[in-house]
Amino acid sequence: MKVLVNPCCEKCHHTASTPCSDYVQCRTEGPLCHDDVSCKQQRQRLMSLILEPDRRNKQILVCNGTGCFSSGSQTLIDLLREGLAARGIDTADVRSTGCHGFCEQGPTVIIEPDKTFYTKVKEEDISEIIEKDILRDEKVERLLYEDPVSGKLAANFETVNLFAKQKRIILDNCGKIDPEEISHYLAKDGYKGLAKAIQTMSPDEVVEEVKKSGLRGRGGAGFPTGLKWSLCRQSEGAKKYVICNADEGDPGAFMDRGVLEGDPHAVIEGMLIGAYAIGADEGYIYCRAEYPLAIDRLRTAIAQAEENGLLGNNILNSGFNFKLKIKAGAGAFVCGEETALIASIEGKRGMPTVRPPYPAVKGLWGKPTNINNVETWANVPYILRNGTDWYTQFGTEKSKGTKIFALTGKVNNTGLVEVPMGITLRDIIFDIGGGIKDGNQFKAVQIGGPSGGCLPEEMLDIKVDYDNLTAAGAMVGSGGLVILDNTTCMVDIARFFLSFTQKESCGKCTPCREGTKRLLEILIRITKGEGKAEDLDTLENLAKVIKRTSLCGLGQTAPNPLLATLRYFRHEYEAHIFEKRCPAHACTALMEYTVDNEKCKRCGQCSKVCPVGCITGDKDTPYVIDTQKCIKCGACLKKCKFNAISLA
Ligand SMILES: Cc1cc2nc3c(=O)[nH]c(=O)nc-3n(C[C@H](O)[C@H](O)[C@H](O)COP(=O)(O)O)c2cc1C
Ligand code: SF4
Ligand code: SF4
Ligand code: SF4
Ligand code: FES
Repeated sequence: MKVLVNPCCEKCHHTASTPCSDYVQCRTEGPLCHDDVSCKQQRQRLMSLILEPDRRNKQILVCNGTGCFSSGSQTLIDLLREGLAARGIDTADVRSTGCHGFCEQGPTVIIEPDKTFYTKVKEEDISEIIEKDILRDEKVERLLYEDPVSGKLAANFETVNLFAKQKRIILDNCGKIDPEEISHYLAKDGYKGLAKAIQTMSPDEVVEEVKKSGLRGRGGAGFPTGLKWSLCRQSEGAKKYVICNADEGDPGAFMDRGVLEGDPHAVIEGMLIGAYAIGADEGYIYCRAEYPLAIDRLRTAIAQAEENGLLGNNILNSGFNFKLKIKAGAGAFVCGEETALIASIEGKRGMPTVRPPYPAVKGLWGKPTNINNVETWANVPYILRNGTDWYTQFGTEKSKGTKIFALTGKVNNTGLVEVPMGITLRDIIFDIGGGIKDGNQFKAVQIGGPSGGCLPEEMLDIKVDYDNLTAAGAMVGSGGLVILDNTTCMVDIARFFLSFTQKESCGKCTPCREGTKRLLEILIRITKGEGKAEDLDTLENLAKVIKRTSLCGLGQTAPNPLLATLRYFRHEYEAHIFEKRCPAHACTALMEYTVDNEKCKRCGQCSKVCPVGCITGDKDTPYVIDTQKCIKCGACLKKCKFNAISLA
């Protein structure tokens, strides 16, 4: 079968070993070395099959990212293909794509050209989709997305509020192209940034371009990418490495997985451009082994890039060589820290080391090494391809471009959202996220995972960028955005994140190993109603010492969620300590179950299920719960059909 990546005729001499410098441009604009109408028409036909479905040629884009895959999307793809073939339909094509971003509604299917968005598609829906949508151009209404607030059906993908206010640059290909088809990436102008860099720019010019773009690292700290590259470029040594940090250890974060599964070539192209700029000829993608689909798709993409002369020796006949390997990590949070990550690739236990020397000077196998995050690398092709002026129109003065967030928690729409830097938290949560679930009230947003912090309602109009969030006591971090409502206890949230960091501490340095344990013990006591007046000062002082004295970023940021909740929700700590009360009614130890005698029908069901027999009463005597004996298991609350049992 002819595909875009293949030669048009025998006049094309491009192979991996005899590369043509015009190969990338030629795929979409060619042929360039000979003038042949049939070759040109063939290219255009192949391009339009990928890019421009029309009513006679529909594209059925089935999400085959991890979320949808686990709910059976591969079977849907097979059934759709079989269904079309059985009916002899050749005017529709089924494409397996990466994550559409709305995993909780999965498996999701988009049908082009109308961008019809079907949600929670099941095997039994396939015939109807083919008969109605593909053959008769009618919508299968029951599968359309219904807005939880307005109750309206979304006619197409772009009117679903999760997508309407996004600015999808890095995620643009995800959900549209088949990540296992390099032709699709090429048709979407893929590898043009690489071709431009290595054929028309010196490495210094590439570094300058990235500096000018204002791109900052998306892995957490927001370090300027161009500056990082120039430091590594300036380091002495003929052998240098680039690494892609795809460890993604933050709880709730799946941005990097989305990019790797949906558009692996963008990450590879970014790394190629970075390697050329820095002077590296070898690279590693360090990806956690819990991401098998991402690793599979990366392997396929690397093989395809090699076969087509875009990875390996003398790339596009430029003399630039680059070899790329994947290292699967065992999934320890600390292995995302760059020196620990390097140790892990070298086959040692993933433990951080003291910096300096920084990896830019002495990194993998002692050689200068540049590490960037998945999303950072994926930004690079767009900057090179479209130029700095185009890129800097998005974002704020000091934080350019877009950021992908994993929006989760008590919000109506959860998923992957890409927004321009500078958007407000209110826009993300209430427009894109569709507001708070179950009509509850917003309480806080936890940003940046275990290294980040919680911001209250007063901060909802803050413009999201690196500096604003850090000043407010949170951070962009890797991009976790967890929405909390009035049923969430903020002391318990601090306890949750601390228990994560405490378990993930590598144990090498005392402040982190011992300090996080002590903080956690105090928080557990407070949530049990055993807090003491002096605990607040102890927490604050110890947190500051841990931040100042820990060896690596894990310990240095571990107290952040605690400090942010103390800053904005101190009253909740005080209620737990001084009034032995959890204002959110979330800490079990501080809850009291009581029977409302107005509502109670004296049916006796609650006392039958109580495991410690602490409910007494009968037809003539009111039912009561002995709060001293009650173990707060909640069995009676669940059992009572009359809502006569409540929590206080
Ligand atoms: C404990 C810890 C875990 C980290 N985990 C990740 C991670 O999963 N992915 C990532 O890109 N960066 C992670 N980082 C940040 C990296 O060490 C490093 O700063 C980043 O990969 C640099 O890339 P960037 O400049 O593109 O952001 C982590 C840092 C620490 C301290
Ligand atoms: S310009 Fe290069 S890639 Fe295009 S047809 Fe000629 S040899 Fe092949
Ligand atoms: S701060 Fe924590 S994770 Fe980092 S080196 Fe010290 S003990 Fe290990
Ligand atoms: S189950 Fe409810 S209604 Fe029945 S006795 Fe218990 S509290 Fe009363
Ligand atoms: S995996 Fe299908 S929408 Fe995310």
